[in-house]
Amino acid sequence: MNKSSGSSKPRLYITREIFNEALKKLEGVYDYEVWDRYQHPPYEFLRKKLVEFDAVLSMPTDRFDCEMIRSISHKIRIIANMAVGYDNIDVECATQHGVYVTNTPGVLTEATADLALALILATARRIVEGDHFVRWGEWWRTGTPFHPKMMLGMELYGKTLGIIGMGRIGVAVARRAKAFNMKIIYYSRRRLPENVERELGAEYRDLDDLLSNSDIISIHVPLTKETRHMINRERLSKVKRGAIIINTSRGAVIDTEALVEALEKGWIAGAGLDVYEEEPLNPNHPLTRFKNVVLTPHIGSATRETRLAMALLAVENLLAFAAGREPPTLVNKEVLRIKPPGFY
Ligand code: NAP
Ligand code: GLV
Repeated sequence: MNKSSGSSKPRLYITREIFNEALKKLEGVYDYEVWDRYQHPPYEFLRKKLVEFDAVLSMPTDRFDCEMIRSISHKIRIIANMAVGYDNIDVECATQHGVYVTNTPGVLTEATADLALALILATARRIVEGDHFVRWGEWWRTGTPFHPKMMLGMELYGKTLGIIGMGRIGVAVARRAKAFNMKIIYYSRRRLPENVERELGAEYRDLDDLLSNSDIISIHVPLTKETRHMINRERLSKVKRGAIIINTSRGAVIDTEALVEALEKGWIAGAGLDVYEEEPLNPNHPLTRFKNVVLTPHIGSATRETRLAMALLAVENLLAFAAGREPPTLVNKEVLRIKPPGFY
């Protein structure tokens, strides 16, 4: 889709179809073009295409490494990522080149926390396995409507939830877990203020302590140099036997090979995963072999309300920039000292 007025408005490339409500707000300010295929635009295509544009509204799967940024930064002034995570963008390189980077924090917190809870429940109570058991006739073939030892799972009441990365989503998961009467422990870069710890009933622990004392571990750190493979073989070997691991952050926070080994050796009782080191996940991937693993296709923020709010926030950032104002959710604030916002 192409919305061009033939005027001298800044040109915006949008790397996937977004809602019309968000597109409408751009009219009169930007001339925009939308990549309207379902598959993502290839890296080389974007590298060539974006040299003609002043701004880009991107998705977390569009890679803006330094090579890409160097190629496009003589014209592109802002990358408005429609995600809270921005590990797809080399932010340091963008700053050096005077390119603004924005994200969409906050608006997706509740939807993503809902999904984390859904994965906790689905894994602990074997919901997907149970569905298959009924749907594919296994239950029917047993001829047994009820057995005291059939499909036993883990109860949440009174169990310990270990949250790694107690930011917006981590806190929203803790709030939900409190309603299940779970004990909450957490590990994060910084401790929460005392009053928030008290309100959540959350205790700070170091990572090894959290791993060996949690019945369920839920990961909510961003993917950075420090968190890549934070959950590796050594750490997985320390996890309390019978625990479940949930990951809705980024796949590469866990070393996938080590996770598969932990599942094979029974170091953990199961996993609920929304994110993977390689996306989309190959259906022949070893993770798909385990009945005690629940897999969802990176849908943490996938509700209509949230995806619209994300698009609107990305657009708000683009509008502020075009008006010469600091975008409300600017990631690289240091860029303000390098180039002022606005197309000039
Ligand atoms: P956030 O508010 O920034 O929370 C992240 C937390 O992790 C912060 O408390 C942060 O500490 C902490 N942290 C950062 N690096 C750490 C480290 N090395 N060790 C320990 N703790 C560390 O972010 P959020 O909004 O909750 O989002 C978290 C992540 O979820 C995003 O980055 C994204 O990757 C992922 N996500 C996925 C989906 C999905 O569709 N599955 C949807 C939304 C988000 P500081 O406060 O010190 O920075
Ligand atoms: C989605 O994965 C996000 O980071 O918003």
